[in-house]
Amino acid sequence: MTTASTDFYQYLFDVRGKVALVTGGTRGIGFMIAEGLVKAGARVYVASRKAEACEETEAQLSPHGFCVAIPSDLSTIDGCKTLAQDINTREDKLHILVNNAGVTWSEDIDAFHEKAWDKVMDLDVKSPFFLTQQLLPLIRAAASPDNRASIINVTSVNGIRPSNLRNYSYVAAKAGLGQLSQQLASDLMSDCINVNVIAPGLFKSKMTAPLFTSKDAEAQVMASQPMKRGGAMEDVAGLVIYLSSKAGGFITGVTVPCDGGVTSIN
Ligand SMILES: NC(=O)c1ccc[n+]([C@@H]2O[C@H](COP(=O)([O-])OP(=O)(O)OC[C@H]3O[C@@H](n4cnc5c(N)ncnc54)[C@H](OP(=O)(O)O)[C@@H]3O)[C@@H](O)[C@H]2O)c1
Repeated sequence: MTTASTDFYQYLFDVRGKVALVTGGTRGIGFMIAEGLVKAGARVYVASRKAEACEETEAQLSPHGFCVAIPSDLSTIDGCKTLAQDINTREDKLHILVNNAGVTWSEDIDAFHEKAWDKVMDLDVKSPFFLTQQLLPLIRAAASPDNRASIINVTSVNGIRPSNLRNYSYVAAKAGLGQLSQQLASDLMSDCINVNVIAPGLFKSKMTAPLFTSKDAEAQVMASQPMKRGGAMEDVAGLVIYLSSKAGGFITGVTVPCDGGVTSIN
């Protein structure tokens, strides 16, 4: 007969004191991830464009632990470099990088414009690559065989299978980020850095607000989901904590759908 050990549980899932950066951490899924990491004891940096949203996020999360928000436009390589330099002045290691910031665009195929293509590609696939590149020295410094560092790229179920959303550049960017992540997992294996992908299904956020224009619309959308609900903070933050802790150390190069069964059941 054994008894449950809090120490063992903490040993498996401990992220206390780890330094994390969550891009797009001021609202939606990024905020959920940042909230979970802060409450689990990580030192969390978030980045997004709007200074006001950054201030609000810091004010909301700081009572629960360490949270610093840095206004940054990550749609350009200069923006990625500036953020990496800023983190570098504050920390000498980065254990967890969550490339979450993303944008989508829906338009009929006949009207789909190059601007919509480039805007999505820049933030959803180019930025995670160059931000990772800029932060690699700090991530390498955090990584060891016993405590591998963790890069998590947030894609979408739309990068795995078609939908009716006409979001052509988004599906290409998310599928591309998925494949890029596998390549990075292979290339960074010997640096003790794990690279994995979380592919969310439906989460209520500004991005998905057009689906939730009324209570009736929301009820219909939720009824269409296998679990009759969308994703919650615990669902996605729990997965990030798992992948970034001792428990997830043997996992790299995989895509984990966080979608209540959408890709496996429907
Ligand atoms: N919600 C869903 O159902 C769903 C499903 C599948 C995948 N996803 C993916 O999950 C991620 C988060 O989605 P979400 O629904 O939480 O989106 P959201 O509510 O629109 O939040 C996006 C976040 O990214 C930031 N951001 C946007 N452009 C930026 C830029 N140029 N530089 C830096 N930060 C920027 C936003 O803040 P600022 O406006 O202040 O910059 C915000 O914090 C995205 O990668 C999305 O593709 C979401």
